[in-house]
Amino acid sequence: MSSIGELRAGEAALLVDNKGRRYLVNLDPEKQYHSHAGFVPFSQIIGQPEGVQVATTKGQKFRVFRPTMNDYVLQMKRGAQVIYPKDIAAILMMADVYPGCRVFETGVGSGAMSMALLRAGAIVTGYEVREDFLARAQKNVEGFLGAGVFERYQVHVADAYEGIELGRDGLEEDTPLFDRFVLDLPEPWQVIAHAPKALRPGGIIVAYTPSITQAQQVRRALNNGMYDEVSTTEVLYRTWHIEGQAVRPDHRMVGHTAFLTRGRLVGPSLEKPQPADTDLDAAAEPLDAPGGNL
Ligand SMILES: C[S@@+](CC[C@H](N)C(=O)[O-])C[C@H]1O[C@@H](n2cnc3c(N)ncnc32)[C@H](O)[C@@H]1O
Repeated sequence: MSSIGELRAGEAALLVDNKGRRYLVNLDPEKQYHSHAGFVPFSQIIGQPEGVQVATTKGQKFRVFRPTMNDYVLQMKRGAQVIYPKDIAAILMMADVYPGCRVFETGVGSGAMSMALLRAGAIVTGYEVREDFLARAQKNVEGFLGAGVFERYQVHVADAYEGIELGRDGLEEDTPLFDRFVLDLPEPWQVIAHAPKALRPGGIIVAYTPSITQAQQVRRALNNGMYDEVSTTEVLYRTWHIEGQAVRPDHRMVGHTAFLTRGRLVGPSLEKPQPADTDLDAAAEPLDAPGGNL
């Protein structure tokens, strides 16, 4: 879906009022946006350039833009809880997602992570246990990226803990193996157990876990001598208030969301795997330099 030119019928748009409140709408030429201050017919918006200002019948003004992915993810309808955009951005970098990269993603949830992977050019195979969530994810992805993206987006109602079927979704042409695993489900270590058969050597796994005890379990799963470049990161994101002489961090920020644990499949090691109970000793080691593995 092209995101340049005049605003078109059928596409998503964002109405922003003078208090910065944001409303995600679909530009249906037969419909209007309604608020307590009257309405604006979408036909007045269609054909206008982005950034146009429109007013409701009672004078409430809005600027109209195409939604950014950040806007869309935060405003779209959800089945499952989405990955927050600050973490999505970090995951793309930690997993080193590139155009044509074959990603195994589970759980698909509301499709927020899928959207970012697809927009980065990845070919995504997704597993999601809940059919209703999968349908919601497909709608969300199509709403933002258009139906053409389904050429690169194959999702299945499947339990990822049970295993990963290879040779489907057109991946068998060269190798059935995936380049990346992106995991956001309660027990990612159960999926990591299948990685040696489904992820290519050098492939990267990133697991998103709200709780540190889950991150610890992921670290144990990656501590079998088959993974290198293992790290766990938390992304802290703070905006600033800058107005005249008042220059300070905003009072509110998104507090904790999740831990991002990454590992790279390197195949069998020459060294003996460390026993799991030495994991905590590793915490005393110096941290990676900022920007190292993100
Ligand atoms: C937090 S949501 C994922 C949100 C998604 N990353 C997004 O950004 O929209 C976790 C999802 O994992 C799914 N799930 C849980 N266990 C699963 C399993 N064994 N196999 C596949 N999906 C599973 C849940 O149904 C849920 O939709």
